Amino acid sequence: MSIIKGFQQEIEAALSNLATEKEPTGLYAPMAYVLSLGGKRIRPALCMASCALFDNHRVPDALNPALGIEVFHNFTLLHDDIMDGSKMRRNNPTVHVKWNNNTAILSGDAMLIMAYQLIANAPFSVLNPVLDVFSKTALEVCEGQQLDMDFESRQNVTEDEYLEMIRLKTAVLLGASLKIGALIGGASMQTANLLYSFGSNIGISFQLQDDWLDVFGDSDAFGKAIGGDIACNKKTYLLISALNMLTGSSKQELNNWISKKDFDLHEKVAAVRNLYNEANVSAKAKAMMNYYHQNAIMQLDLINGAKDVKEELKEVAFSLMERTR
Ligand code: IPE
Ligand code: IPE
Ligand code: MG
Ligand code: MG
Ligand code: MG
Repeated sequence: MSIIKGFQQEIEAALSNLATEKEPTGLYAPMAYVLSLGGKRIRPALCMASCALFDNHRVPDALNPALGIEVFHNFTLLHDDIMDGSKMRRNNPTVHVKWNNNTAILSGDAMLIMAYQLIANAPFSVLNPVLDVFSKTALEVCEGQQLDMDFESRQNVTEDEYLEMIRLKTAVLLGASLKIGALIGGASMQTANLLYSFGSNIGISFQLQDDWLDVFGDSDAFGKAIGGDIACNKKTYLLISALNMLTGSSKQELNNWISKKDFDLHEKVAAVRNLYNEANVSAKAKAMMNYYHQNAIMQLDLINGAKDVKEELKEVAFSLMERTR
């Protein structure tokens, strides 16, 4: 994946220049901190690769918008970690833990504004459609995050509701990253929409894998605490499937864990993981990931673009499904 790796290095270097500790440090230090902790940089890399599919010479024009997308993503993480009560991210304390909630809220807000500044550097000829897709996406991410919170206290969330929630909170941003790159690369709206569809399909399997890793992953590799979703009764595909598959005393036990107000975290996570194993939901989730992965590849196959970049996009799509971090 040498082309995409090259983009990731370029992004990493540009981010380190972007994230300097200006005054007031209470606002900018958390930004510099979160942006310096690494992360896969998958969204900006997809944006640049999508541009390279159509016109290599325009890739430099995609850099600032790609950075804007990464800064936006990091803003959502600051707020998401408050909402989810998460203490670890990228193997380090989250911003609201290292500083406090107010800091994470305001630094996050500033990052959202900075994201717009960067995206607004898109070439003038495509600025309107780029801002359109970005704004629509940013609002959808909020919608998805609201549904995610609403579902924590709802018992009867369906598979379809879950899929729509993860489409909104996660998948649309991968779709938008690719669409924005394609527009900057000079692709037609129709082709850019195919890339959006490729991205939103990989985005669904991406979030399914995130939910899987939250239960079955290794915290050192994942960089986040394991069991966070189980702790707050996130209606993941794993939980929804287990509630559908289990019967009798096992189903009762799962419902008991969901309704318990006071519990030992490790005990709950271990017990729920056992019930997931009993219901064999891991295999179900993997099958679902595969389904969306196949859908994604079908969309990509409809696109005419640079063959080497297209091959790498396929490799990335596959690796995201198999990832451990
Ligand atoms: C985490 O995104 C949030 C989700 C949408 C699951 P990533 O898994 O892309 O996080 P980083 O940027 O690589 O840390
Ligand atoms: C996050 O989903 C989606 C957004 C940040 C918009 P998660 O809450 O599952 O992401 P992680 O696991 O905290 O990274
Ligand atoms: Mg979270
Ligand atoms: Mg969340
Ligand atoms: Mg997660």
